[in-house]
Amino acid sequence: MYKITYKKTLSENVTLIKVVAPEIAKRAQPGQFVVIRINEKGERIPLTIAGQNNQEGTIDIIFQSVGKTTYALASLKEGDFIQDVLGPLGHPTDIQKLGTVVCIAGGVGAAEIFPIARAYKNAGNNVITILGARTKDLLILQKELTEASNKFLTITDDGSSGEKGFVSTVLVNLIEKKVQIDLIYAIGPVPMMKAISDMTKTANIKTVVSLNPIMVDATGMCGACRVSIDGHTKFACVDGPEFDAHKVNWEELGSRLSLFKDKEKIALEKYQNECQCKPR
Ligand code: FAD
Ligand code: FES
Ligand code: MG
Repeated sequence: MYKITYKKTLSENVTLIKVVAPEIAKRAQPGQFVVIRINEKGERIPLTIAGQNNQEGTIDIIFQSVGKTTYALASLKEGDFIQDVLGPLGHPTDIQKLGTVVCIAGGVGAAEIFPIARAYKNAGNNVITILGARTKDLLILQKELTEASNKFLTITDDGSSGEKGFVSTVLVNLIEKKVQIDLIYAIGPVPMMKAISDMTKTANIKTVVSLNPIMVDATGMCGACRVSIDGHTKFACVDGPEFDAHKVNWEELGSRLSLFKDKEKIALEKYQNECQCKPR
């Protein structure tokens, strides 16, 4: 059992929790994730390790409530326990000194990009981070990302913070200004990552993405997280989750992610009716 020692609401539907998991805290590297199961009857879901504190033996998990399990997780309080936390899983990010690295995140992707941006900066890179969200109140970790970057830019769909537009709008500006970019790292919803990938393929800029297919066992056995990379089948849990963006079959990933939408909707409605509670 894994104790929640701290809980904070970061924005509408996004929650930070610190969980005691000393062995994971010791070994976790940027880009890795855990699989959690809230209770004996719960399903397994993957969540990125957004940070760790070795002295306290805790890991940070930042998640958006989108369905039954994430709403149930958000309903837990400080002092409550999570049944299983498995990790660290997945290949760590290949951090090298490359020059200028542009880190791009949409919404809760900020939590996933944060340890990566910080590691690239610590390795001596010039890190430009672009964070996008629908509106100002949904921009999270701005202070942390400012510190983890040499330059931090925000953009919102409604223009309430930074420019008005999408993360791709900022990227186009950088490319048009002929900023030398050695690597782009993007994390967010599939349409966002695909748009960035299409753009950088044309501009011939190496781009890495962290993919978010449905995962079940996260050991390479069940095949749930199957993705096609350059025409070859890969399992994101053990072969990824990071891949060369220009080789990803985005259409397949998008359609596999929505395979169970109907069932997920029913599960969430049933959960909310049964517990008759607000998420927090
Ligand atoms: P559901 O209603 O069951 O599903 C909502 C949508 O979430 C589905 O349509 C599907 O697209 C996706 N999803 C559902 N089940 C899974 C599953 N078992 N695995 C992956 N996706 C699923 N989210 C965060 O908010 N913060 C993170 O740090 C984070 N890190 C992730 C790291 C990895 C490697 C992956 C693969 C996903 C990550 N996610 C993260 C996404 C998170 O796992 C899903 O939002 C979560 O599983 C949804 O579960 P649910 O029951 O609440 O929603
Ligand atoms: Fe089962 Fe990756 S989650 S093979
Ligand atoms: Mg679910």
